Amino acid sequence: MNRRQLFQGIGAAVASCMLPNLAQAQSSNRLGMAKELFQADLRLTPLRGYQGQDVRCDQAWVEGKIPSDLRGDFFRNGPGLFERGGQRYHHWFDGDGMVHAWRFTDQGVSHQARFVRTKKFIAEQQAGEFLVPAFGTAIKPKIPLRSSDTMNTANTNVIKMDGRLYALWEGGSAHALDAQSLATQELVTWSPELAGMPFSAHPKVEADGTMWNFGTMMGKLILYKISKQGKLLQHHVMNAPNSAMVHDFVISQNHLIFMFSPISLNMDAVRSGQSMVDSMEWKAQESTKVLVIEKADFSRTRLMELPAMMLFHFGNAWEENQTIHLDFVKSKDLGNFKEWMPKMMQGLDVKHDVASPTFLQIDLRTKHIKISERTEVVEFPRVDPRVVGQRNRFLFYPLAAPSANNDALNGVMRLDLQTGKTDQFDFGTRMRLEEHVVVPKAGSSRESEVWLVGVGFDVQRQTSFGSVFDGENLSAGPVALAHLPYWTPHCFHGNFYSA
Ligand SMILES: [Fe+2]
Repeated sequence: MNRRQLFQGIGAAVASCMLPNLAQAQSSNRLGMAKELFQADLRLTPLRGYQGQDVRCDQAWVEGKIPSDLRGDFFRNGPGLFERGGQRYHHWFDGDGMVHAWRFTDQGVSHQARFVRTKKFIAEQQAGEFLVPAFGTAIKPKIPLRSSDTMNTANTNVIKMDGRLYALWEGGSAHALDAQSLATQELVTWSPELAGMPFSAHPKVEADGTMWNFGTMMGKLILYKISKQGKLLQHHVMNAPNSAMVHDFVISQNHLIFMFSPISLNMDAVRSGQSMVDSMEWKAQESTKVLVIEKADFSRTRLMELPAMMLFHFGNAWEENQTIHLDFVKSKDLGNFKEWMPKMMQGLDVKHDVASPTFLQIDLRTKHIKISERTEVVEFPRVDPRVVGQRNRFLFYPLAAPSANNDALNGVMRLDLQTGKTDQFDFGTRMRLEEHVVVPKAGSSRESEVWLVGVGFDVQRQTSFGSVFDGENLSAGPVALAHLPYWTPHCFHGNFYSA
C-alpha cells in the first residue's frame, strides 16, 4: 500500500464515522500532571479514556482482505471512563464499562461502542463527579451504598446468550444489553435468592452452550450452571478457602477448578477508607490453594496447595486417566496489580513483572500436582471454543514479542502443546495489542483451523484497529487490519459470535 492509498482509505473511513470529541476535561493538578505525561508518551493514549460519549464508525478502512467466511459480531468490553470533575481513577480496573461491537458483514467492518448505563454511570454523568468508591480508588460515597451493584461498572467482559448480551463485572450482577443497539436493558437476576450476588466476568461455555460461572464474596464461593437459553439450572453456595480476589476459573469434563492466591484483605485499611486494591496484602509465605469441585456433585471437593503465585487468567482444562491438565498465566505476586497498573494510569509506561504460560497436572487420586512453566511473556490465553473443557492441543495469546517496549503486548503467539513449538508474529513497537479470540473457520472440524481476531492500538497513527490472523499461520502476519479513524479505550475481554 502506498501513502496515497493509505490517506484515501483513512479519508473514506473518516467520512463514514462519527468521531468522538476527545478533548480532556478540566484538570486538577494531579490530573494535569497525568495529562502532561499522556501527551508526552503516546503509547498509553487509550488509557486516557473517554468522557462518556458513544461512538460509531460504519465503515472501517480495511488493509488486506477480510476472509469471506468471517462474518459475525465481535463484542468487547473494557473500562472506558477514568476522569470526572477533576478527579482521575488510580486503577485501570476502575473505569466505567464501554461495550464495543465490531461487525463483520459483506459490506465490510463497522464499529460501535456505548457506555453501559449502569446506575453508577447515570448518576455520575448527571452529577459530573464520582459518587461511589471504586475498586482501586478511595472515594467517599456521596450516595447510599445499597449493594455492590451501586458500584457496578460492568466493565470486564461481554457474552451473548440466546440473542441477548451480558456485560459482566465480577463484583456484582450482569447487565443485559440489546445486542443490536448495545442499549442497556436491566440488571440480571438469575433467581430471586441470587439478586445482587457476584457473577464473575469469566464464565466458561461448553461446546453445547452450557455455561458455568462463579462469584466470590465475604468468604463464600457461589457456583452457577446456566443453560444455553440463559436459564439457571443449578446454583450452590460454599465456603471459599480465600475470597479476596478470584478473577477466573476453569472447567474440565467433570470438574470446576479454582486457584486462590494468598491475598488477604486488611479490614482495618478498608475501614479507614482505603480502596480495596490498597487494602490487599500479599502473603508470600502462604500457599496458593487449588480447589477441585465435581460438576455432578458440588459437595465433592478436593483441596490442594502450591507455593504462593499470582494469576488472573486460565486457558483451558481437560482430564484423562484421573489427571486434570490445565494452564494459566502466572506472575510473581500483586506487584503488577498494585504498582504497575496505577503507574500506567498516571501516564507512565514502565517495565513490570512478567507473566508466563504455566501448566499443572493434578493427580486426582494422590492429589499430587506437577507444575511446569515456559518463559514467553503473554496474557489473555484463549482456546478454540469447540474444546473448552475438553482436551486442547493449542493455546493462543497476545505476546510481548522480542521487539516489545517494557514487555507491552505487541505480537500474537500460538503454542502447540504437543510439540512445544510456537508460531509468532511481532508487530514491532508501533502496535499494542489486546486479547485475541479464536473463531473456527466456516466448515472446519479441526482444532486450530481458525481465524484469530483481536483489537490493537496503532501508536503512530493514534487509532485503534481490528486484526485478523490465520490461526495456522500467525507468522505470515495479519490477513486483514480494519482501521478506525479514532482510538478507543483498551478492552479487557470479548467474544466473537459467527453470523
Ligand atoms: Fe480477565
